[in-house]
Amino acid sequence: MSETARPVAVLGVGGGIAAYKAVDVCRRLVDAGVHVAPVMTEAAGRFVGRTTFDALASEPVQVGLWGERSPIPHTRLGQRADVIVVAPATADLIARYAHGMADDLLTATLIATRAPVVICPAMHTEMWEHPAVQANVATLESRGVVVVSPEEGRLAGGDLGAGRLAEPSVIVDAVLGVLAGAAAAGPGRLRPASGPAPASGSSDLVGLRVLVTAGGTREPIDPVRVITNRSSGKQGHALAEAAYRRGAAVTLVTTTDRTVTDGIDVERVETAAEMERVVLRRAETADVVIMAAAVADFRPTAPAARKLKKASGVPEIVLEPTPDILAALGASRRPGQVLVGFAAETDDVRERAAAKLASKGVDLMVANDVSVPGVGFDHDTNEVVLLDASGDVTRVDLTTKSAVADAVLDRVAMIATRRAAGTAASVGGRDR
Ligand code: C5P
Repeated sequence: MSETARPVAVLGVGGGIAAYKAVDVCRRLVDAGVHVAPVMTEAAGRFVGRTTFDALASEPVQVGLWGERSPIPHTRLGQRADVIVVAPATADLIARYAHGMADDLLTATLIATRAPVVICPAMHTEMWEHPAVQANVATLESRGVVVVSPEEGRLAGGDLGAGRLAEPSVIVDAVLGVLAGAAAAGPGRLRPASGPAPASGSSDLVGLRVLVTAGGTREPIDPVRVITNRSSGKQGHALAEAAYRRGAAVTLVTTTDRTVTDGIDVERVETAAEMERVVLRRAETADVVIMAAAVADFRPTAPAARKLKKASGVPEIVLEPTPDILAALGASRRPGQVLVGFAAETDDVRERAAAKLASKGVDLMVANDVSVPGVGFDHDTNEVVLLDASGDVTRVDLTTKSAVADAVLDRVAMIATRRAAGTAASVGGRDR
């Protein structure tokens, strides 16, 4: 680690209106015990003053490649960093980084490091959705860069849409998750931001058709009100994106309106009944089904056709169980199909997940304790235990949802390979 014995985060601040939020990211990281070395681009200085970072960070802010304290500030920063986080990452900064340019201190530092990198894009919706920007982001992701996706919300000039910088708490969760993962991985660091791609960044899922569900279902009480849960869909979306990156043909059935990489086949649904209909149809041609969605367990038996009036008093809502989609898939699965379920629990996590593994007839259960800070619903980080039908248990310590997705897909790839080998052996046996 660093000369300060605390993990060192280089905080790169790009030239966007959201630069003011980087001040909060800086403060929160320092509060979390991280040594923060801030680097601003020239343009960032137009949005927020150097003095602010000088006062809050662990060392003075650096801006230029020339005339700073060190003759080679970028290599020093790159070598000292345990993680580099760029917030906000503008379209221009992302493009320069993706193309290996090193024409200012921040991009030079990004190119001169082996530390994991987290980028937090922020820009107008039209820019965020532009194919050039999406292609650059995909390039960086394929090299192991962690992307904290922008959120929907109010943008500069009062416009509404996708592109707003993620909340500082979300960014800090992601950075701490990456640091935790890097520490667990030992001196070799978690995922190099440059250099050879890790095994899970390969094309090991080429030829597999993977169906993923994501998000919490919404069950109508009346045309206005719904029963739902806290699921953000981030883990399911991370799984779909990772499977696609690893070469699978991916179908994503989601209740969210999150942006999805072109090339992933998306079906948007709302209720458990809609999800059941779409999933059972799509599962007929899937090699792997990953039920990451938080399907509501109960729904109103008879949703009102018209809005319930407050003046009519407190309504009595009668609930009925929703169809258990995963159990239905487990009971009627295609030969060779790999089934993965999720169990979000607050108590007796392993025991409950093991019971569900058996009762739902699945191959792999991904269990998480959602009462732990930074785990599960609406975070960018997660900590899970993977239980498989052969009794194997794998722990994945607090890390990004993207890294959890790769750990799940590593297990899926292993089960699929074993199954294919078993099928080949039994076919071979019959032939002889
Ligand atoms: O029983 P529980 O809801 O905890 O099971 C979680 C797993 O079952 C998740 O994979 C979830 O997607 C799936 N599930 C389902 N249909 C339901 C409830 C849960 O497919 N009605």
